[in-house]
Amino acid sequence: MMGGEEEKEEEIGKKDEEEEEEEMVGSIGSYRGRVRLVYSSAAAAEMMLLWGIQQPTLSKPNAFVSHSSQQLRLDACGRTLSILQSPSSLGTPGVTGSVLWDSGVVLGKFLEHTVESGMMLLQGKKVVELGSGCGLVGCIAALLGAEVILTDLPDRLRLLRKNVGTNLYGNVRGSAAVSQFVWGEEPDLELIQPLPDYVLGSDVIYGEDAVMDLLATLLELCGTQTTIILAGELEMMLSSNTS
Ligand SMILES: C[S@@+](CC[C@H](N)C(=O)[O-])C[C@H]1O[C@@H](n2cnc3c(N)ncnc32)[C@H](O)[C@@H]1O
Repeated sequence: MMGGEEEKEEEIGKKDEEEEEEEMVGSIGSYRGRVRLVYSSAAAAEMMLLWGIQQPTLSKPNAFVSHSSQQLRLDACGRTLSILQSPSSLGTPGVTGSVLWDSGVVLGKFLEHTVESGMMLLQGKKVVELGSGCGLVGCIAALLGAEVILTDLPDRLRLLRKNVGTNLYGNVRGSAAVSQFVWGEEPDLELIQPLPDYVLGSDVIYGEDAVMDLLATLLELCGTQTTIILAGELEMMLSSNTS
């Protein structure tokens, strides 16, 4: 049997745990999605795992996007972004970036929230986005002040250029350029001189084939000052691992 002192200590311990848990839960920007932040103490391998808590994404794919629409609208950085998609191209083997993916919406809103809440500074920072697809994430980074290079496979740049042109009009705090880049290949000098401050990618890990090339690219692009932020669907990664 526990004595009164021990019970009291256990209760205090539980309360501390609950408070700690509460501190780790926040919400993202105007989208207000509840998220849990996990920090690791090793700076070199710092990992931030961000996932929705009781979000529809847990059970429903494409919770924030529609892959049948020609155009998606999303409020970010004080304007309504209009992202054109090409749903018909999605049927072509190997083509995935002709539509927007949930991870892109989450990463874009995450950037907006972290910058607007003062947790991250993108103003004047060099950002390289890998596998930009329709370009939502890169556009948001440019609106938040970054000098962004959005990249994708050579034959996937038309839609990307169109979306960048459509959304980055008027007063944009940063800038955006579109460039072809195939993971695993030698990067053009503009990508690595100087090395980027941030490398971003949403939903870029979905097939085992490209992972080694992606890793090689991350090593090429990253210096000691570079932060890599990748967003992906955990459920999708797990199921592709077990299939
Ligand atoms: C699932 S889509 C994600 C698109 C976008 N980031 C989003 O979240 O909506 C994956 C993107 O990675 C690009 N990609 C795939 N393999 C690639 C490679 N080997 N080199 C460069 N880009 C690649 C695709 O063309 C596509 O745009």
